Amino acid sequence: MSRLVVVSNRVADPRKAAAGGLAVAIRDGLQQTGGIWFGWSGKTVDASVANSHNGVHTQTVGKVQLVTVDLSQQDYETYYLGYANNVLWPVFHYRLDVAQFDVRFGSGYRRVNQLFAQRLFPLLEPGDIIWVHDYHLIPLAAELRAMGCRNPIGFFLHIPVPPPPLLAAIPEHEWLVRSLFAYDLVGLQTEADMRHLFDYAHWEVGAERLTDGYLRAFNRTLRVAAFPIGIDVGEFAAMADAREGVDMFSRMRAEYSRRQLLLGVDRLDYSKGLPQRIRAMRYLLEHYPENRKRATLIQIAAPSREDLGAYDDLRRQMDSLCGAINGDYGELDWMPVRYIHRNVARRRLPGLYRASRVALVTPLRDGMNLVAKEFLAAQDPEDPGVLVLSRFAGAAEHLKQALLVNPYDAHGAAEAIQRALTMPLGERVERHSALMATIRKYDVHWWRKAFIEMLEESVRETG
Ligand code: G6P
Repeated sequence: MSRLVVVSNRVADPRKAAAGGLAVAIRDGLQQTGGIWFGWSGKTVDASVANSHNGVHTQTVGKVQLVTVDLSQQDYETYYLGYANNVLWPVFHYRLDVAQFDVRFGSGYRRVNQLFAQRLFPLLEPGDIIWVHDYHLIPLAAELRAMGCRNPIGFFLHIPVPPPPLLAAIPEHEWLVRSLFAYDLVGLQTEADMRHLFDYAHWEVGAERLTDGYLRAFNRTLRVAAFPIGIDVGEFAAMADAREGVDMFSRMRAEYSRRQLLLGVDRLDYSKGLPQRIRAMRYLLEHYPENRKRATLIQIAAPSREDLGAYDDLRRQMDSLCGAINGDYGELDWMPVRYIHRNVARRRLPGLYRASRVALVTPLRDGMNLVAKEFLAAQDPEDPGVLVLSRFAGAAEHLKQALLVNPYDAHGAAEAIQRALTMPLGERVERHSALMATIRKYDVHWWRKAFIEMLEESVRETG
């Protein structure tokens, strides 16, 4: 079996219990074959220090090496804050209004991708399979190829692909898409993402579409396929049954014994539709007053990318909306929204999910959204909660038995929440069991194996 080399902007320590589902999947893949997980250390250092040595930090965990590099402050500002999160993140989430273009961002992005390639290339062995993750590293394969790397290289994009006219608003759009053709396989989350990429490639660069998801352009053949990412269902359900999960569940049930709990768990990000969610709650309380003194939304919004203005604006907006709804509707013994702008330990989430009657997963745009799947996996199958899911989350493409909503439509979303709160047990069980069958079939292990197998096959086919 070939050794696996995973590259992503962030490298999680897979030994930590708090590691997310992706870290767990990658750990399992790496442990089977042995390999390297390469990325940014999360630290910034003085530019002279960052460039003075071939600085990589290496830590060995079993058969896996965690290899990280530090970034200079300038690289952090231009590559991470600038290009990745001020250009690619907003545009790929259909938010041209939030994007800020600056040539320095583009050059920082190239520089860091080159730096990653320079530091990674000497560590590679001829039989290695390389798997690159997410929008921070689109040009990495092109940089590696320029150094003579001939290994199979696959790329998985965790975020959506926007429709062609939005993609074309990025000044370097053609260069970005050309860079994708240095990969052997590009994995996307959904069929809609595939359509957008194919249409872009056809209209903007005249790519020829061959069979089986192959595209031909720039003298290269690239295979594109959808692999909806999943979770480790068993592990998540086990976390719900573990001591901390059970404690959390009992505490929440005791605290909310006479209430119905609605739950939102997100990073504080403008793609997540948080202000719209609070507006839907307001609509619910206004038009279905039986929920007053009864339904409470716990909204966890983990701090994220706080060095960026758009995130700061959102924070102020949420402070004000949550203050207003609680001020207008709150009672001495009840508040409609409990808003928590902090991280909540991952091991506490399953108990919280299980104690909630309804999950509100209502992003304006999302690559997949794993909270939706984790909520389902943590439920008691005999008395499950209801998932209210945005039609604009990648997860909506296959979680058809959720209550699908348009998050821009506060009225429609409130109607769906009301339906979820009053759904009879039989219907809840039926929907939950159908959804569980889907998330079990397409779990994170399926995702990893399907991607790696197709990468190996594509390399064999195109030589
Ligand atoms: C999204 C992205 C990931 C990213 C994560 C956290 O899920 O797809 O690549 O790591 O957000 O964002 P951060 O900027 O803190 O890495």
